[in-house]
Amino acid sequence: MSERLLAVLHGCNLNMLGERDPAHYGRQTLTELETLVKEHAARSGFSACLCFQTNHEGELVEQIQKLRLSAAAVIINPGAWTHYSYAIHDALELVRSPVVEVHLSDVAHRQEEWRRRSVISDVCDRTISGKGTEGYLEAVSWLAERTAGPEGKLET
Ligand code: DQA
Repeated sequence: MSERLLAVLHGCNLNMLGERDPAHYGRQTLTELETLVKEHAARSGFSACLCFQTNHEGELVEQIQKLRLSAAAVIINPGAWTHYSYAIHDALELVRSPVVEVHLSDVAHRQEEWRRRSVISDVCDRTISGKGTEGYLEAVSWLAERTAGPEGKLET
């Protein structure tokens, strides 16, 4: 049986979770969040879960390109790149699998106007925001169901 890979991609400043503005991002560290996501991915039928974070835009583009054919499903939170990176938009366009955009905070209703716009939403299958860590778990469940075959098994 071939590998069912879930890729969980994080952009700039998300390595600072736990320390960053807890009112918007909660108190959990990225490592704690990734552990919960990995556990839920395993429960949901993914055979592997790759977690990747970078503060360099080109590295995220390269990671997306690398995964474009091999991932069964992708979760992405690009951080501030969400709001202006056409390079990440164009890389996501190459991804064959379903992609869910996740934000910890409710970006559509935040004070800064520039945060309310996402330039990647149109190349994602779904956007979940404002649900904190729960949003990631919801994305995993949705993607597991979306990529499941007729018997509830993940499709080859
Ligand atoms: C974020 C929201 C972005 O506006 C911000 O730049 C982030 C995190 C979120 O998860 O709520 O870094 O993507």
